[in-house]
Amino acid sequence: MGADIGKCTCCRQEDRHKYEEIANIIDLYRDKEGCLIQILHLAQEIYGYLPLELQQFIARRLGVPLSEVSGVVSFYSFFSTTVRGEHTIRVCMGTSCYVRGGKKIVERLQEMLDVGIGETTEDGKFTFEIARCIGACGLSPAMMIDDVVYKQVNVNKLDSILSKY
Ligand code: FES
Repeated sequence: MGADIGKCTCCRQEDRHKYEEIANIIDLYRDKEGCLIQILHLAQEIYGYLPLELQQFIARRLGVPLSEVSGVVSFYSFFSTTVRGEHTIRVCMGTSCYVRGGKKIVERLQEMLDVGIGETTEDGKFTFEIARCIGACGLSPAMMIDDVVYKQVNVNKLDSILSKY
């Protein structure tokens, strides 16, 4: 384990501990069917996201080509290769929400948070994303922060919604 971990480009102690934890998970799951997805999930939980160096580390330790690991990471939208915020905001831009003002909410949030779509705020608090229907069409426009759905949102409510975080 030691030599493999030593090859990673991270140098901070905290990163080293995370890599060690991920190495243990790889060893635990390596012989199980469909283990790659499971390992990537847990690795993302531990590390927060899946940068290329970590994908390389997983591929090497698991003995599979990097292309196999990267292919899975890029196929599933729940895997992220960039650092994520503490909370994820998803504004619905499905048809119902779009026609009832979803676009204004997106624009206002981008202004307030100073981020583009798919980006994370400088303080690391929020990652900002777009969703396609979150099942609240009857009370659109809607948005989510983590698992909480906010319905009938308008730009005047955004301050108070964000202040909860
Ligand atoms: S379109 Fe937005 S919740 Fe369905």
